[in-house]
Amino acid sequence: MIWSRITGTGGYLPEKVLTNHDLEKMVDTSDQWIRERTGIAKRHIAADGQTTCDLAEVAARRALEAAGRSAQDVDLIVVATTTPDKIFPSTACLLQQRLDVHGCAAFDVQAVCTGFIYALGVADKFVRTGSARCALVVGAETFSRIVDWTDRQTCVLFGDGAGAVILEAGDEPGVLSTHMHADGAYETLLHVPFGVSQGYDKVCEHHAYYVEMRGTEVFKMAVNTLGRIVDETLEANGLDRSQIDWLIPHQANIRIIQATARKLGMPMDRVVVTVDEQANTSAASVPLALDTAVRDGRVKRGETLLLEAFGGGFTWGSALVKF
Ligand code: COA
Repeated sequence: MIWSRITGTGGYLPEKVLTNHDLEKMVDTSDQWIRERTGIAKRHIAADGQTTCDLAEVAARRALEAAGRSAQDVDLIVVATTTPDKIFPSTACLLQQRLDVHGCAAFDVQAVCTGFIYALGVADKFVRTGSARCALVVGAETFSRIVDWTDRQTCVLFGDGAGAVILEAGDEPGVLSTHMHADGAYETLLHVPFGVSQGYDKVCEHHAYYVEMRGTEVFKMAVNTLGRIVDETLEANGLDRSQIDWLIPHQANIRIIQATARKLGMPMDRVVVTVDEQANTSAASVPLALDTAVRDGRVKRGETLLLEAFGGGFTWGSALVKF
């Protein structure tokens, strides 16, 4: 039986930092409100001209180095992003060009903040079926480009970044299971209301290129769906919640993270939290959190990790990983 295993992780955050105090000068908000309601203290913002592919490239090279692989070993590239450099080619193809890789399949996956879980699930299936042996899986976003910086309800929540993993074929269990869900009926809870298919003129006329969100409803939906997916993941693997070593959640809001940890009966010192420093980086948040905890020595080889995320769509998903 072929398994896929994470053999290296990488991450990248742009240099520019925007603190809550900086935001106080931009919209009617306060450091205290943002910290109390979300747990966020600061976020990183891409420089002018710095694109999603720029962030993805650094994260990808770091993951390759950690895995002891060269770009030439890669035979599949999957990039999860909501903020591609271009409408086409895909950011995965642009990344492939940067890495000087030629010929292997490269494509983007769009599931907003659940994107990395979807990308990991797809890449895992390629590896398990023998269609790829060394996959580069990336979550990368410049979400700051689609945030309305005059809307205090959304602009305090998001940041930019990229995270990546190398997924390799092997005999030992690695990715134990992945679970992906969506319910398109909840489209308007969290969306950008216009896209290219409606015509550029409409987008410009309505200034409708920014994230719109019904925050309280998203909060409730997140807590409910994550609670369900925790049960589904444990059940699928015949595991008890006490057998999970680390929860690596999507970093949207500390209160949502705490609710999932409570559901798992996990103390917060077994939960990887980066939301305070990085805010919500959408598809990048889970691989960035994983990379942070691997590099600072918290997550060790052989441990069992529960990765989970939710986002626009509405989408939600999880992965159980033997690291
Ligand atoms: N600063 C100060 N006040 C703010 C504010 C801000 N940045 N944003 C909203 N407020 C105000 C509101 O206008 C409201 O004022 P009112 O009572 O006078 O009407 C008050 O704070 C409470 O707003 P509410 O939206 O009820 O707060 P909340 O406790 O639900 O917190 C969120 C708002 C957005 C932090 C919370 O709903 C949330 O995190 N939702 C999930 C969002 C998410 O995860 N999105 C990404 C999904 S991938």
